[in-house]
Formats: sequence, structure tokens, C-alpha cells
Amino acid sequence: MEDKPYKIALLGTGLIGTFYTTSLHGQRRMDKVHTVYSRSEERAKTFAQQWNIPNYETDMLRAIQSADIDVVVIGLPNNLHLEAVRAAAAAGKAILCTKPLGRNAAEALEMLKIVEEAGVFHGYLEDLAYPAKTLKALSSIRNGALGKILWTRSREAHPGPHSDWFWDAQLSGGGAIIDMGCHCIEIGRNYIGKDIRPVEVMCWADTLVKPIEAEDNAIGLVRYASGAVSQFEVSWTYRGGMDLRDEVAGTEGTLRVDHFLRTGMELFTSVGEKGYVAEKAESETGWLFPVGDEAHALGYPQMFEDMFTALDKGESPMETFYDGYVVNAIMDACYLSAKTKKWEPVNLEVWRGNEAEDQQREYKEYDNNHYLIKEELLPDGRKKIILKEKSGGQLVQRVLD
Ligand SMILES: NC(=O)c1ccc[n+]([C@@H]2O[C@H](COP(=O)([O-])OP(=O)(O)OC[C@H]3O[C@@H](n4cnc5c(N)ncnc54)[C@H](O)[C@@H]3O)[C@@H](O)[C@H]2O)c1
Repeated sequence: MEDKPYKIALLGTGLIGTFYTTSLHGQRRMDKVHTVYSRSEERAKTFAQQWNIPNYETDMLRAIQSADIDVVVIGLPNNLHLEAVRAAAAAGKAILCTKPLGRNAAEALEMLKIVEEAGVFHGYLEDLAYPAKTLKALSSIRNGALGKILWTRSREAHPGPHSDWFWDAQLSGGGAIIDMGCHCIEIGRNYIGKDIRPVEVMCWADTLVKPIEAEDNAIGLVRYASGAVSQFEVSWTYRGGMDLRDEVAGTEGTLRVDHFLRTGMELFTSVGEKGYVAEKAESETGWLFPVGDEAHALGYPQMFEDMFTALDKGESPMETFYDGYVVNAIMDACYLSAKTKKWEPVNLEVWRGNEAEDQQREYKEYDNNHYLIKEELLPDGRKKIILKEKSGGQLVQRVLD
């Protein structure tokens, strides 16, 4: 099918609405926001003028149902995702929804069922699966550079979100886990393999600093059927900016990615430049860590390219509502584990990946009678080899001069 420009209805004019529009309208891209919806007429009008958007609406249904619109992009607070998805699916529009898909797995599953029953295109806007560094890392992993993936770590920490509704667990569905754990979990799933079932989780969560009901800090472990473990660390009280980084360890290699805060750009200023430095930067003087192109560093343009190319081809994008549902199910288990302080199973009413547990180990052969455990060149120039006898299981150490 020929590439065509899509007309987008953007719901929400907050931080993510701004990032999405910057990405969509940047670099002479062809898919544009055609209508923007905000409750406030003044905000809608200003946003439309700022980004050269032909229409604005203060009525969400009118924005969605307009015959001009091909694609609805949802950038509203978490409690409004379901309602917006329902209306967009009923109008037969392609739907792209920001993260987290739902406030919990039940909401996410309902959204998945709605779009699948309506037969509309659906994309889960998990931008952090798309930064150029992550796409390159994923391709290296798929080409076998790291061997079998054993462990991933994803860290998302900043001094806390920028709007009231995030801090209200009823509206957002939780705290730092629902807000940022969703990114880390999906990053881990991508590295480990989305066909591999997340089996169980162990999670610590606490409210260490802020006067809120939900957690402002958490750490979790997600164990997969392959034996791999995906670790996430999230904080709404981390000082000094937005720390986003990932690590992956496999049997044959290791990988590390810094997305923000430490991207290779450092700037010292004694006077500042009186303005925005980078998202969640806490200071504008002293040593600063600006980000050259935030939208690209966070994967937004690459994400939209995947979404619209998939829409052109009638295929599924890399991230769909199904992925959003799996992530919500993992987070539900995390919230339970944080309470029970036990490993809790991930309950997936719908699972479309591999069924079997696969923890097969492939030991390295040294010779016909031994497996190789380790070899190392020591500081004094000797080489140590540690072996295990195949029959009998005896450990053997050899030192070669
Ligand atoms: N990296 C990412 O993918 C990323 C980053 C930030 C936010 N988000 C997600 O985007 C969504 C919005 O977050 P944000 O940071 O833009 O928040 P925000 O508070 O900056 O903006 C929210 C927008 O929704 C509007 N809104 C609030 N309550 C409303 C209501 N009751 N009815 C209609 N409109 C209402 C606000 O006026 C504003 O335009 C959330 O789901 C959040 O998790 C994703």
C-alpha cells in the first residue's frame, strides 16, 4: 500500500501531547495533528496556534468522531484511557494510546477486547522500546551478540511527576510503578523476548518521602519462563534529573545504555541561560546534562514511524495493546507482591507467546570428559582452567604456566 499522510486527533495538551506533536510535526514529517482536544478552549486554541493545527475542540467525542480523522492519539491521564479507547473504537478510528495502557490489567484487557472486537488498528505508545540505541541493542541481541539473555536491569528515576493527577492513586492507578515501572518492564520484555512468559514477580515498594498513598520508590524482579530475570528500579524522589538507563547480561555478552542525564553531553555554567535544560532537570546552573534532541533520545519519532508504517501495511506495530495488557498484568502482580512480600504469579488471562518453561542449560564442552566452567589469565601470567567432570561431577582446577 502506498504511504499516505494520516490526520490525527490528539487528545490532551499536556507534557506528552507536546512531545508527541513535536515529534509528529518535526523534520518535515507528513502525518500531522489535524485536531487537538483540550477541556479548556484557551489551552486548545493556544496549542493549535503554536503547532499550526487546523482545528481544536473542547468536546472529546467531536474530536474523535470527525470524518476527517484517521488516527486518535490518546495523551490523557490514565483514568481516561479506557473511555477514550471506547469512543475511538466505536468511531472506527485507528488508536494509539500512551502508557500505561490501563490503571490495572482488567482495564487494559477491556481495552484490548474493545479494539480487537471493533477490528481497529491499535498501537501502544511505549516510546522507550524505540530509542535508536535500544533498537540497535535489540538487533544485536537478535543477532546473537549476547547469547542467551539472563538478566536485564532498567532504571527510571526522577524527582517526581509534573501534574496533580499522577499523585492521586485513584486517577493514575498507583505511584512510581504504574508511571515508570511500565517502561522498565516493557524494556525488559523486549530484551528477554516477548514470546517468553513472565511467570512471577517479587517487588518492594514504599512511600519514603511524599505525603501520598501510593509508592514513591520501588524495585521489582520479574522472572521469565526462560529463567531470565528482569529487574526494575523506579523512583519519584531521585534528585538531580531524570536517570534512564538499561543493562542487559547474556551468556556471551553484556550491554549498557544511558538514555538521559548521562548521554555524553555535559555543560557547566555559572550563570545559566534562564530556561529549560532537559525534562525534570532540577537546576539551570553548575554542571548540567542537557539532551541534544529529547524526542529522539526517548524514541518518539521512531515510535510513530513504526506505528504509521504498520498502519500503511495493515500489519501490527512493534508495540500493541496486547503488550500494554501484559505490562499491566505484571504490574498488578508487583503491587500484590509488595503487600504480601512474597513471589506472586503473573496472571495472564490472555497469553499469546510460548507455553513451555524453557530453562535448558547448554554447558560448554572442554573435552570429551569435561565441561568448561571458567578460564582466566592471572596477573602473574599463569592461566587457570576450572572444569567439571561429566561423569561423577568432580570439580578440577588446572594451572597452566
Ligand atoms: N514517555 C511517555 O510515554 C509518557 C511521558 C509522560 C506522560 N505519559 C502519559 O501520558 C498521559 C498524560 O500525561 P502528561 O504527562 O501529558 O500529563 P499532563 O498533566 O501534562 O497532561 C494531561 C492532559 O490531560 C488533560 N486532562 C486532565 N484531566 C482531564 C479530564 N478530566 N478530562 C479531559 N482532559 C483532562 C490536561 O488538561 C492535559 O492536557 C498519561 O497517561 C501519562 O502516563 C507518557
